[in-house]
Amino acid sequence: MAIATAHRTSSTSGKARTQVPLSAHGWRGTGHTDARHQPRLSSRPVKLLSIAATWACNSRCRICGIWKRPASEPRFLDLERLRQALADPFFDGLAYINWFGGEPTLHPQLPDAVAWTRERFPAAHERAVVTNGYRVRPVLARLFDADPDLLVCFSLDGFAPRHEQRHGIPGGYDEVLRSLLFVKHTFPRRPRLSVTLMPGEVEGLEQVAQIAEYYDCEMALRPAVRGSYFLGQAEVGWTEAQIVELETLLARLPERARGNLEFTAAIPAFLRSGVHRDCTCKRFTGVIEPDATFRLCHSHDAALPIEQVPQRWERLVAAAEQQDCFQRECFIDGPYALSYLSPEHAPWLRS
Ligand SMILES: C[S@@+](CC[C@H](N)C(=O)[O-])C[C@H]1O[C@@H](n2cnc3c(N)ncnc32)[C@H](O)[C@@H]1O
Ligand code: SF4
Ligand code: SF4
Repeated sequence: MAIATAHRTSSTSGKARTQVPLSAHGWRGTGHTDARHQPRLSSRPVKLLSIAATWACNSRCRICGIWKRPASEPRFLDLERLRQALADPFFDGLAYINWFGGEPTLHPQLPDAVAWTRERFPAAHERAVVTNGYRVRPVLARLFDADPDLLVCFSLDGFAPRHEQRHGIPGGYDEVLRSLLFVKHTFPRRPRLSVTLMPGEVEGLEQVAQIAEYYDCEMALRPAVRGSYFLGQAEVGWTEAQIVELETLLARLPERARGNLEFTAAIPAFLRSGVHRDCTCKRFTGVIEPDATFRLCHSHDAALPIEQVPQRWERLVAAAEQQDCFQRECFIDGPYALSYLSPEHAPWLRS
């Protein structure tokens, strides 16, 4: 069955999504189960996998709707099921494994999963966890035992008032800094700070850059979008004056605080007039959600049960490449995909 005609399932993101149906006969019901009739694996299989361990969150960010997802949705990913699915040789070439959510540290089995991910993908360039940093130090200690090479990324949106206003957690800013300090003194890998830019609130960027300098962190920047993944919570109407303010600020930042330079340089043009590049996401990335489905990106409708990915991924990509699936939030996921990757470590993004 073609993706376009596959049936719709209940929504995991506030809008209807497409579930590619399970079939004992393989893609499009051809009846072929013989390995000779399976689609050939592409020479460019998935390189980056983002895994939403849970939709649960202990924060209530006003730019994000993940914490508002209906309680009826699967909340916590079945990590044993994931482990079995990722054992398939299809995933051997994964270079980036990124745990996110919701707040991934709330998943009680995350440290175990981080430990087996390290064993499964020892040569991956990056195994990372993205966290809001609240009450996470006991989990961080367990994550260090599980994988000392883990990259820990904290979301930080400016000094205390700005950050706490956005997250709605009084005292949250100091808490994040304490967690950051813990990581800095425990993990050999430099932590990363992620700042999400909002119109009229970009002064936070300069402040996070100062913190990054002080604590010797990497930085990653991105604009907030009103995306389906975030359930459309952000107010993202940028005026020309606000874009100019951002441009001025970006120009003043030291290069090392600008994250992925190509992506960051493209932010003002994106805010003015949208995206000016083809989607790279389709061929390299995958997202796994807590209901154990796989998508090419956060925004793509078609979903596969994770066990079906090795057999069906190539057709999924081929269908996506024929489809105009672009949406505004694709700036983050797609055309400038992988905003936080440095091009030197992701040469396949250029191929
Ligand atoms: C969804 S959170 C998941 C991990 C963890 N809970 C955290 O906040 O770091 C990942 C990142 O998405 C960002 N984010 C939230 N809402 C967004 C939106 N509407 N547009 C773009 N980024 C958004 C957050 O600022 C955070 O840095
Ligand atoms: S941005 Fe992260 S911390 Fe904030 S509500 Fe969304 S998932 Fe939770
Ligand atoms: S165009 Fe957008 S929805 Fe389609 S694969 Fe790329 S990032 Fe995903």
